[in-house]
Amino acid sequence: MTGTSTFLDQCRKPAGWWGHITLRRMNWSHSRLTDWGLSHICVAKESTVLDIGCGGGRTVGKLAAMATAGKVWGIDHADASVAAATKTNARLIDEARVQIRRSSVSQLPFADNTFDVVTAVETHFFWPDLPADVREILRVMKPGATLVIIAEVYKGAATRTARLCEKYAPLTGMKLLSADEHRDLLSSAGFIDVRVIEKKDSGWISAIGRKASIS
Ligand SMILES: C[S@@+](CC[C@H](N)C(=O)[O-])C[C@H]1O[C@@H](n2cnc3c(N)ncnc32)[C@H](O)[C@@H]1O
Repeated sequence: MTGTSTFLDQCRKPAGWWGHITLRRMNWSHSRLTDWGLSHICVAKESTVLDIGCGGGRTVGKLAAMATAGKVWGIDHADASVAAATKTNARLIDEARVQIRRSSVSQLPFADNTFDVVTAVETHFFWPDLPADVREILRVMKPGATLVIIAEVYKGAATRTARLCEKYAPLTGMKLLSADEHRDLLSSAGFIDVRVIEKKDSGWISAIGRKASIS
């Protein structure tokens, strides 16, 4: 398990030269998954968007291409990810359309009701306290805003990767949720219109929820 643990450590908090390589690899290896996940939500062109656990920053660039008259923030708790995402999005940062910051999902450096859309790709299984972290996300979302959590593995998926991740989760600390547990996570935190979409042939999952509008 040493090799697998070290690889997962780099996914959890990339660092050093191996972190640099891992971030570059994830920028392309998560691209199709991200496109699939984003295809289930609407990102209006004026949107203010937050990508949590932005890693190498490719999702931030994709979101900026959708929110052409808006602004995209990427946050990540790893210095290596902040550096990589900053480099990936240098032109958009110069144009003041993107900002990247170092922060944990558990304490977001944003005011209440800031974002129209929040995304989290291949990251939530590493968060320290999923129920509290999801409530922290809800805090920074505007009424009516959308959260999408996207992942290429989940508990109960019929893929070899899912079976391996499930088997070794007690050792790796990776928090794998089933489709129903994703639904409960968002509903219990107070999200409405919760939808969980599975791509069963690939073992991908997308969990979507909305913050209630003020009536
Ligand atoms: C597997 S990588 C995915 C990166 C990117 N979203 C992608 O799809 O390529 C997970 C990322 O989440 C970040 N991350 C993990 N736990 C975090 C936390 N508690 N707060 C903020 N970022 C976190 C890691 O530093 C890493 O960059």
